Amino acid sequence: MRLKNKSVVITGAGGQLGTRFAQSFATEGAKLWLADISPELLAKAAGQVPTENLLGTLIMDVTQPKSVESAFAKIREHGPLDVLVNNAGIGVFTPFWERDYYEFMQVMSVNVGGTFLCTREALRLMKDQGRGAIINIGSIYGVVSSDPSIYTDCARMNSEVYSASKAAVIHMTKYFAVHAAPLGVRVNCVSPGGVFNNQGEDFVQNYTQLTPFNRMAKDKEICGAVIFLASSEADYVSGQNIVVDGGFTAW
Ligand SMILES: NC(=O)c1ccc[n+]([C@@H]2O[C@H](COP(=O)([O-])OP(=O)(O)OC[C@H]3O[C@@H](n4cnc5c(N)ncnc54)[C@H](O)[C@@H]3O)[C@@H](O)[C@H]2O)c1
Repeated sequence: MRLKNKSVVITGAGGQLGTRFAQSFATEGAKLWLADISPELLAKAAGQVPTENLLGTLIMDVTQPKSVESAFAKIREHGPLDVLVNNAGIGVFTPFWERDYYEFMQVMSVNVGGTFLCTREALRLMKDQGRGAIINIGSIYGVVSSDPSIYTDCARMNSEVYSASKAAVIHMTKYFAVHAAPLGVRVNCVSPGGVFNNQGEDFVQNYTQLTPFNRMAKDKEICGAVIFLASSEADYVSGQNIVVDGGFTAW
């Protein structure tokens, strides 16, 4: 119960990792705002968290300032906000030579713009409280390039824009860690490696061969770093990027 009664908002809560994070925060006693652009996924995620841990659900498009502002206004009405997890994120999987500029900007808009907008709104709240923790979800591909040999037999490729957006998230983490420190707010990042989600056999095999742990991550294995950074155990930790990847980026 490291986060008993702490209020937490998780964006992209309807997705694979967002839902896992929500369950993990609930186990630690937190009270949750679950936010997502998809009402269906949001309802599904809410059904997987004990009702006593749920403050509410927020249909929020992180790329739309008005949508983000009204979601955070609702949070402010209710009370303090202790933790923001900027988890909403998208990728594109076609080869870069087919990339449409709109598609490129959409990824930047969700992954970078969304992280910025939610961070700005959370900081407006947290500065009045004099405390808070923000955890961004980056990626190993914000640290290293994807290896094309993983993707040759697959119908999907990792994209240049996903990598660029996650590198931006990791760097923005440092900017806000520095600039939010006087407000009493810590800002950190967790960068997961590939999480198993029934991807194609070729992809899983290729990815596995490049991972020292010889397997992909289980979604629950990403939660520990997020919970740690949200908790008081990390009171002196800010501006960091914890990579949780079974050693993928170590060689
Ligand atoms: N799964 C992995 O292998 C992996 C690895 C590294 C990093 N990540 C990162 O972890 C985060 C979560 O990934 P995931 O695998 O759970 O993805 P996911 O696709 O399962 O979930 C993403 C969620 O974000 C929501 N979303 C998309 N656009 C949105 C918007 N404009 N506003 C609000 N919500 C929006 C989606 O509805 C979805 O519920 C992402 O930032 C992703 O880049 C994932």
